Amino acid sequence: MTDQQFKNWYIVEEQDIYWLYCDKADSSTNVLSESVLTELSTIVKKLSVKQVRGLVLLSAKKSGFIAGADIEEFTSLKSSSAAEQLIRGGQAVLTLLEKLPFPTVSLIHGYCLGGGLELALACRYRVAKDDIHTCLGLPEVKLGIHPGFGGTVRLPRLIGAPQAMDLILTGKTIDAYRAKKIGLIDHLVPDRHLKDMAIKCIADKLPPHKPSAFIQMTNHAFVRPILKAVMTRKTEKKADPHHYPAPYAAINLWSHYGGNPKAMYAEEAKSLAGLITGTTAQNLIRVFFLRDRLKALGKGGTFPVSHVHVIGAGTMGGDIAAWCALQGLKVTLQDITPKSISSAIKRAYALFKQRLKNPRLIRNTMDRLMPDITGTGLSGADVIIEAVFEDTQVKKELFQKIEPLIRQDALLATNTSTIPLEEIAPSLAKPERLVGLHFFNPVAKMPLVEIIAGELTDPAEAAKALSFTGSIDRLPLPVKSSPGFLVNRILMPYLLEAVLMVEEGVAPHVIDRAALEFGMPMGPVLLADTVGLDICLHAAEIMSEKYSVIIPGILEQKVKEGHTGRKSGEGFYRYKNGKHIMPKSSSGLSATGQIEERLILRMVNEAISCLDEGIAEDADLLDAGMVFGTGFAPFRGGILQYCRTEGFENIRERLTSLEEQFGERFHPMQGWETIK
Ligand code: COA
Repeated sequence: MTDQQFKNWYIVEEQDIYWLYCDKADSSTNVLSESVLTELSTIVKKLSVKQVRGLVLLSAKKSGFIAGADIEEFTSLKSSSAAEQLIRGGQAVLTLLEKLPFPTVSLIHGYCLGGGLELALACRYRVAKDDIHTCLGLPEVKLGIHPGFGGTVRLPRLIGAPQAMDLILTGKTIDAYRAKKIGLIDHLVPDRHLKDMAIKCIADKLPPHKPSAFIQMTNHAFVRPILKAVMTRKTEKKADPHHYPAPYAAINLWSHYGGNPKAMYAEEAKSLAGLITGTTAQNLIRVFFLRDRLKALGKGGTFPVSHVHVIGAGTMGGDIAAWCALQGLKVTLQDITPKSISSAIKRAYALFKQRLKNPRLIRNTMDRLMPDITGTGLSGADVIIEAVFEDTQVKKELFQKIEPLIRQDALLATNTSTIPLEEIAPSLAKPERLVGLHFFNPVAKMPLVEIIAGELTDPAEAAKALSFTGSIDRLPLPVKSSPGFLVNRILMPYLLEAVLMVEEGVAPHVIDRAALEFGMPMGPVLLADTVGLDICLHAAEIMSEKYSVIIPGILEQKVKEGHTGRKSGEGFYRYKNGKHIMPKSSSGLSATGQIEERLILRMVNEAISCLDEGIAEDADLLDAGMVFGTGFAPFRGGILQYCRTEGFENIRERLTSLEEQFGERFHPMQGWETIK
């Protein structure tokens, strides 16, 4: 077997051990494409008749082991029978590997995900690098599918149903230490001992990990129905079965066929083939590639940043500062009110505790986040982000004051959520320096950052903003400078329509339920209360200067009365200990179908107008903005993808019918004529 035979693999033979390197051609990442698997099948078949002491599977890529099946290939599957054939082919290769008559080891560094982990599970041993970058998992549910190369069979058998199904149902990844603890990997060793450990496994025939009798019991036919009920209840809290069928399919697979591996392999393939060609999976795959596109925008330039200075320790400023510190940067947080800084630091501590767990790491991160009442950090910072009150005059005065104090090469940004840059920048001696870096609330959960270049902005500064955003693990989206930019402009009509319905007498929770049923992460009334009704009103007023925005009287009245939402204990809902109280009665109940129609179509109409005005460069970027900035129903693939699925003409007709019923705000806006 010579190296030249294969495009994606090469083999090194040392002391009767074969070291099989995965090195996918023309790619920075190893994925199990059809050609990678076909070659692997040939190699394994050839090895099976050789006199070999052992086989070690490893990756030649620096970044990691194998990132799973090739998601790109999922988009060109013609039918579920074609998909099933492909999956059965993959299963067959791993079964061949599993049945090799000599010890097999997978040597893991970096990510080992999806099909990559399933490949490792088909080996007798898994040896991993003791390193913070090592991570293992089965993220398939995030793509609307479940594992298909035997993962649903081998993983519960190896580590027991509760741990295995937790990984399968949530798609979360775990680090090497956790993987060792639950028996997913046999040995965890430093880089320098990796190869020796693999040799030792083979030479000394070390016993591979075997689950205890108790763990094995979790897969027993008597136990499965009980665990199934628990798993289903837990999953229902996170994923609506109508929108996200994959985890429920995985639970059913395991509970029906958990005792019969042969049947389970066949059913795994059948179930996955049905899911992968379905709308949810195809839309979630689309979202994966939308993320990829934004990620790539953040990888373009080089702008090294070590110190960020944030001005304004309110919710947004404080959370931006905390996020930057979590990403390893030194952060100075400036505010004239010590109380604001202290509550921001308290929130930051809660975030670090939740994300880092390790007390030493938490302490180090806290040390990087420094209160800075007097603004001493301004002069040394690489990036300065203003996040003060949304008021043009206040922002202008602030920029005038700080411009002489900052470095010439520093990036100067405003986190304005609605004000066009052209209104703020003229206050600067060098207006071309100013960019918009619009983060979303909550910063740690919403990965999007709108990058706003005004008419005066120097493109080099916008490029720095893209690079900085990518470096702090957020997704940058360039948008045109215009009131509300992209996301808030589309979201505002949706929020205001919800408020109008409250004014009409529909109960807030009925409106919110309609939005949740559509697939939004939070209802619009609760969202308005959470953002703050005063902030919503102010943003609506700013947008109304350019666009026709009808502000419901009830919103102004609530703000006048001081009922500004969650923060004041009352908005459209009442709050107890920060949680909204659900009303007992369903006063003003009306058909959720029409509520959903009114909410979503207002958003859609505005999205078409934004696309027409070029606020985002194209339809895919607009969809990416709504998914990553608002959590817009990912299983629908984005707001314009939703229109595509429903049919643009169909939606336009529905808008016209709403216009007849509710008036001009539903009139199809400019852009509908050209959209396809
Ligand atoms: N299939 C196809 N392409 C993949 C892939 C997969 N499973 N996983 C990663 N890639 C590609 C990305 O599209 C990207 O391509 P590009 O360079 O042409 O843009 C490249 O590999 C690097 O990925 P990127 O995400 O930019 O690198 P990262 O270091 O930030 O993250 C991973 C690496 C593997 C953690 C991340 O890409 C990931 O989560 N991939 C998906 C894993 C998955 O869901 N596997 C199960 C599939 S069923």
